Amino acid sequence: MFLEQYWGGPTTYGEERGHPRLRMRHQPFRVTPEAKDRWLHHMRSAVDSLELPPLYEGTLWDYMERAALSMVNSPSGA
Ligand code: HEM
Repeated sequence: MFLEQYWGGPTTYGEERGHPRLRMRHQPFRVTPEAKDRWLHHMRSAVDSLELPPLYEGTLWDYMERAALSMVNSPSGA
């Protein structure tokens, strides 16, 4: 629901959860660089399954990599 809202679709996420504040919502969890890589690994499979045209695929994946990096809140292995 967050992603469909982010990309201009229905705003159900906001209606049900309010402002995303994603870094704050992830704060109770340890998001290490390894966790980020695992998250991207699974997201890669999901994005591949969509078989998007190259421009959409590249735009979406660039966003995923930047968003995942910005969610890291703990050092490696800590
Ligand atoms: C980098 C690796 C990431 C890890 C390990 C991670 C892990 C988690 C965890 C543990 C939760 C909480 C689940 C719960 O409450 O039981 C969560 C919630 C969520 N994550 Fe992530 N996350 C990551 C990246 C991202 C990114 C990049 C996005 C968006 C582009 C995202 C979007 C969300 C959303 C929308 C929620 C639900 C927030 C809510 O409560 O409304 N996450 N994530």
